[in-house]
Amino acid sequence: MSNDRSVHVDLADRGYDILIGSGVLSKLEAVLNPMHSKGARRAFVLVDSGVPDRFADQITTITQSLGIKSTLATITPTESIKSIQTYQSLLVHIASTGHSRVDPVIALGGGIVGDLAGFVASSYRRGVPVIQCPTTLLSMVDASVGGKTGFNLRITNPDGSEDLLKNLVGAFWQPQCVIADIDTLDSLDPRQRRSGLSECIKHGFISAGVGQEGLLDWMIQHLDAISSFEPATMAELAERNVALKASVVALDEREDTSKLGGRMLLNFGHTFGHAIETLDNLSPDPSNPSLAPLHHGEAVALGMVAACRAAEHASGLDPEIGNEMISILKHAGLPVQVGGLPSNQDLVERMSHDKKATANTIRVVIPTSRGKCIVVEDAPVESLEAGFDAIRA
Ligand SMILES: NC(=O)c1ccc[n+]([C@@H]2O[C@H](COP(=O)([O-])OP(=O)(O)OC[C@H]3O[C@@H](n4cnc5c(N)ncnc54)[C@H](O)[C@@H]3O)[C@@H](O)[C@H]2O)c1
Repeated sequence: MSNDRSVHVDLADRGYDILIGSGVLSKLEAVLNPMHSKGARRAFVLVDSGVPDRFADQITTITQSLGIKSTLATITPTESIKSIQTYQSLLVHIASTGHSRVDPVIALGGGIVGDLAGFVASSYRRGVPVIQCPTTLLSMVDASVGGKTGFNLRITNPDGSEDLLKNLVGAFWQPQCVIADIDTLDSLDPRQRRSGLSECIKHGFISAGVGQEGLLDWMIQHLDAISSFEPATMAELAERNVALKASVVALDEREDTSKLGGRMLLNFGHTFGHAIETLDNLSPDPSNPSLAPLHHGEAVALGMVAACRAAEHASGLDPEIGNEMISILKHAGLPVQVGGLPSNQDLVERMSHDKKATANTIRVVIPTSRGKCIVVEDAPVESLEAGFDAIRA
């Protein structure tokens, strides 16, 4: 494979390319050029404060060279600022620049920046173009591809307690292009890197069911290089994972809830994971409680283990599949058990708040064989509880 990689998301007139590799941010110029020809004169750039300045500077230099005036808005991403308040302030900011319908929004950052920028783009003036420039592994292989955008909603329950409902508000808004510059990953901290690897491992465990048979074995063969973030391997890892996500999205752009498959399979590990992700007290390392709360990828890792063990209980899944997954997750430095979980009853209740749940059912993605998963909505509660018991330290 060459150093310059690209994957096309085949969505007819909403289709787009994902450019992957070292230094590919320079290709932003070629992406903006046709927009400039169609009248774009401004760009609103949402920048993640964790990204080294040189990448935002590069975007400014490129836009200036084309005669496009860029406005930078910087945010420090947390799940609590992925909120309606931040969304509103971004709308006020973009409106104050005189941004027109043909002017692009550019997201430079992780999944939080990408989701917020995408939703601003989807709704400002009923929709303006967005270019996603993901800078975390998780956002490269997952969040920036497929057009899901949005923010979290904080609600107060009748008993006065509060819940953060993740990604409850949003829209599907496909980007014009995704530019995944592998060089941005150099500054990413090891825990964030591992969190991104969790989504890659998830892809491996659904790969055979979505026509990407080789992915799991390729990752196992390259596990040392992947776990140590060897740059050439990272570019290939990103390309292979993006190809999987692109193929799933092309067949089910808007996650059709009437069919139990398609994009929903990408939620493997997520329904169990969401039940524990927003619990503030959980640490990925039982000996170091100060690492709480869990990162998204850590919760997904635990959720995938729980889903395997639940499938063993519900439908006799071969335990070797869960054992292999645990060994890969451990190799990648991801948690497979966690201390401090609440009761199973609480956890199952939290699963039913997941937005993938329908009126009376909890939809979970469970493995049926190596590399293949299905969506079920009638998993017995005892099986879900067996899943949580398996990850309880
Ligand atoms: N839209 C989707 O389809 C989709 C899919 C998966 C996840 N998500 C969302 O993505 C979010 C998680 O994204 P994430 O894992 O990228 O986390 P994140 O956006 O919170 O970023 C993680 C941390 O990395 C820092 N960072 C970003 N780029 C950096 C860089 N190059 N160098 C150093 N630090 C850097 C950020 O400042 C932040 O502190 C969640 O909100 C999740 O809901 C969306």
